[in-house]
Amino acid sequence: MQLNADQIRQFQDEGWLFLPEAFTPEEVAVLAREAEAIYAANRPEIWREKSGAPRTAFAAHTYNEAFRLLGAHPRLIGPVEQLFGEPLYMHQFKINAKAAFTGDVWQWHQDYGTWARDDGMPEPRAMNIAVFLDEVMPINGPLMLIPRSQQHGTLEAGHDTSTTSYPLWTLDDATVTQLVAEGGIVAPTGKPGGVLLFHGNLVHGSAPNITPYPRKIVYLTLNAVSNHIRKPTRAEWIAHTDFTPIRSVPDAALAEHARAWKQAAE
Ligand code: SIN
Ligand code: MN
Repeated sequence: MQLNADQIRQFQDEGWLFLPEAFTPEEVAVLAREAEAIYAANRPEIWREKSGAPRTAFAAHTYNEAFRLLGAHPRLIGPVEQLFGEPLYMHQFKINAKAAFTGDVWQWHQDYGTWARDDGMPEPRAMNIAVFLDEVMPINGPLMLIPRSQQHGTLEAGHDTSTTSYPLWTLDDATVTQLVAEGGIVAPTGKPGGVLLFHGNLVHGSAPNITPYPRKIVYLTLNAVSNHIRKPTRAEWIAHTDFTPIRSVPDAALAEHARAWKQAAE
């Protein structure tokens, strides 16, 4: 899939782009069911909130067929490859749960802040492209973005290792206040199957989920191959060191897998 000129302009100016209903309900259903099974498993790649609820599952594309197909899907790889103009590899892959009632906060941060400081990534030529597995609503902890904040480059951050179970390089209130005065806040919402991509330096965060509605989102962090990380400090399944370019699967591959999976279940 390729972006049109208006979409490229929106991404370049605002730092984010939302593509509603990029995946069908059938394609999403298999991913959502597999995600729940993964959260129920006991593996080191699955991190839990302080409450014990799942927070994030890393690297499912390396051991689960549906997520392997998603991790090489042309509707995700195509637009990011187009924006960076070179082949990509998977820097990180995670399924964030934001579980009903217990999903915890993600403090305000820039992703590239972590990739640079913890992984030795040379440039912000990586970005997250996210797929909604549940409906993302204004009330269940949607991702909040500060438009145009990517234009400020990589901002000073503090390493917060205590607020949640996930250590994060976070921004202080004064910085966020200033950025929001300039750009406001948007929270893209939509049905399962929506896709959101955003610049590595775009400031974002999300509030806890106290509703009965889970908010699962898969994040592919795609890095330009020439921008591969130089100084990994995190586990291989958090910040990958296999820089092999991703070769997209056929566009129908996930739909075919979903059909076979549904037939087997019947
Ligand atoms: C992230 O910023 O990495 C995750 C935020 C979220 O899933 O709400
Ligand atoms: Mn982030």
